[in-house]
Amino acid sequence: MILAAQLSDTHFDLSARNTERVEAVMGYLADLPRRPDVILVTGDITDSGRPEQYVEARAALAADLPVYLLPGNHDDRAAFRTELLGEPASTAPINSVHRVGTLTVIMLDSSIPGEPSGRLSEETYAWFRSALAGAAPEGPILVALHHPPKPLFSPVVDVIALADPGRLAAVIAGDPRIIGVLTGHAHSPIATTFAGKPLITGPSTASVLGGTWEVTPPHRVMDYAPDPAIALHVIDSHTLTTHFRTVPMGGWLAEPPS
Ligand SMILES: [Fe+2]
Ligand SMILES: [Fe+2]
Repeated sequence: MILAAQLSDTHFDLSARNTERVEAVMGYLADLPRRPDVILVTGDITDSGRPEQYVEARAALAADLPVYLLPGNHDDRAAFRTELLGEPASTAPINSVHRVGTLTVIMLDSSIPGEPSGRLSEETYAWFRSALAGAAPEGPILVALHHPPKPLFSPVVDVIALADPGRLAAVIAGDPRIIGVLTGHAHSPIATTFAGKPLITGPSTASVLGGTWEVTPPHRVMDYAPDPAIALHVIDSHTLTTHFRTVPMGGWLAEPPS
């Protein structure tokens, strides 16, 4: 089996709070008896795309296992490239493909510079096709992007979701090697289906965005009280099984509190 940990929406903002929450999650993963094979971070790495926020992210997300990241609507492609990837500044989409054992992870940049909603560009679709052509013929493949491609009953996020989801659905449904789609953006652990396959939205380490049944803007929207949370994806052959875990900021207890 392959174990992939998913962090999302870390929103590094130069505050100690958001950094400490990621550090707690990374410590939790490092202490697992069976450590993940890979860590995926599905966008909104920073809160406002400032270079110094990426410096924070790079330090807090450092690990002795592969960590792969994609941008979200709060990110800045140029600073993401220079500070996180060590590449020249460019505003081209940040797409990447990674091999983790038998698993191929394809990470698509759904951000639109300067806009909160998402779209996969022509350039990204062309890159996606070539990444699929180059992936192992037997699979499995996980596809990750920041913006969910369908409504999630999340009033804040549903209006800034992925545009033209039908085009992505056709690709996902048409490739039997793809076992699931991972997203961020919704700040809530969510399991549903898309194009007949699992669609898993990883929770944020920073905050929780409520569903239609609990959000009442402007005063009750983002909940900063819950502990940071992550998704743990088990890939076994061509199946995807996901556990969600909160990481208590108080640490791990061997005995139940009295
Ligand atoms: Fe976010
Ligand atoms: Fe987002």
